[in-house]
Amino acid sequence: MTTHTRDVEVGIVGAGPAGLMLSYLLHLQGVEAVVLEKHGRHHVEQRVRAGVCGQPTVDLLRDIGLGARLGLEGLPHHGFSLRFDRRDHRVPLTELTGKRITVYGQQEIAKDLIRAHAEKNLPIEFEVSDVALHDLDTERPCVTYVDADGDAVRLRCAAVAGCDGFDGVSRHSLPSGVLTVYEHEFPYAWLGVLAHTPPSHGELIYAAHERGFALHSMRSPELTRLYLQIDLDDRLEHWPDERVWEELQRRLDTVDGFRLREGPLLDKSITPMFCFVAEPMCHGRLFLAGDAAHIVPPTGPKGMNLAVADVRRLAHALHRLLRRCDPEPARTYSESCLRRVWCAQQFSCQMTAMLHRDPDADDFARRLTLAQLRHTVSSRSAAASFAEDYVGLPFE
Ligand code: FAD
Ligand code: DHB
Repeated sequence: MTTHTRDVEVGIVGAGPAGLMLSYLLHLQGVEAVVLEKHGRHHVEQRVRAGVCGQPTVDLLRDIGLGARLGLEGLPHHGFSLRFDRRDHRVPLTELTGKRITVYGQQEIAKDLIRAHAEKNLPIEFEVSDVALHDLDTERPCVTYVDADGDAVRLRCAAVAGCDGFDGVSRHSLPSGVLTVYEHEFPYAWLGVLAHTPPSHGELIYAAHERGFALHSMRSPELTRLYLQIDLDDRLEHWPDERVWEELQRRLDTVDGFRLREGPLLDKSITPMFCFVAEPMCHGRLFLAGDAAHIVPPTGPKGMNLAVADVRRLAHALHRLLRRCDPEPARTYSESCLRRVWCAQQFSCQMTAMLHRDPDADDFARRLTLAQLRHTVSSRSAAASFAEDYVGLPFE
């Protein structure tokens, strides 16, 4: 097989929110990049994942001219419910923080970014395979891969961005001993479903129930997104649609007779609940961003927002490094991202522990968790602190 050689300033592995956003931000600063994605465009545009965007993410999309559809179809929310003791306890986010969240699916952001790339002829190579990173310790790292036509390509770069998610190749390409990994696993998972039925409530509902956590969210006036806490070793085949609805109805039940609107399930998947941080987020000319470097449990909706915060910083750092010969922002990239990551990690773990049923907890621990929930909604300063953490830090 002949190998084609191409030169580009930045090789980006992965077309999730991190890779696509980085490529577009680099383009706006005149830095050329190529995005390499192992799946096809359709897969990337349909994959159901995040739904909640923080204000900094929304503001950035607007600032770079990609906020039009989000403005029309995104659903702004000014609060959400913590449901426990079979009652709603509203957290008025905007009243407490001046900020809001916007429900707009991750795959819609992916569609907007991919369309913007297509309009400007910015390269995204879908369906590539055998991606491997080389010479990361030098100023000319390269990425080899096989393109969708089966041709071998050698991409010579000035920097490589590993935006290939938790299971990608980038993080594993670093020499052993470079990374320190911090991990924590919760003893449960989430079953997520997308239902073709209107939301049953105007806002998100995070429900703490003795049978386990449940979450009511949405994607549009016609689509409801719901999650259930399940056992870590549970499987999709144990959850036929009728059982999903029955369990959701039980956990979201209230004293005043709340009922979910049921409908056909369009998507069903299981997500394990774990935390992961790899430090540092760069080595030589490889920079990790998003889920490739860190995973937060999804209870506090932060993963995609962290990915966007990383690449905003990285785009600036790469521009300074490659166009201004200024290595300082690249040198401090990891340290400054990790500060935000650990802050989000701390909050997401706390929110997860507060809302889920821990199978290993004794009755005493359960009473403490209930006391924490009650305090969070009854003390204005506790609610304000919770709301501030939930909406997240602004981008600098
Ligand atoms: P990814 O989205 O994982 O993208 C990585 C890309 O790299 C993928 O397209 C993958 O195919 C590609 N890739 C992998 N390996 C290779 C390879 N070898 N070669 C080429 N390409 C490769 N976050 C929020 O902020 N708000 C939420 O409401 C929220 N809800 C969530 C709900 C659930 C159920 C889950 C699971 C997550 C949620 N998240 C949420 C987290 C969010 O989805 C992730 O943090 C986000 O997808 C991270 O983006 P990323 O670009 O870093 O990685
Ligand atoms: C959604 C996901 C979350 O992790 C969350 O905390 C809230 C909403 C969602 O997918 O809609």
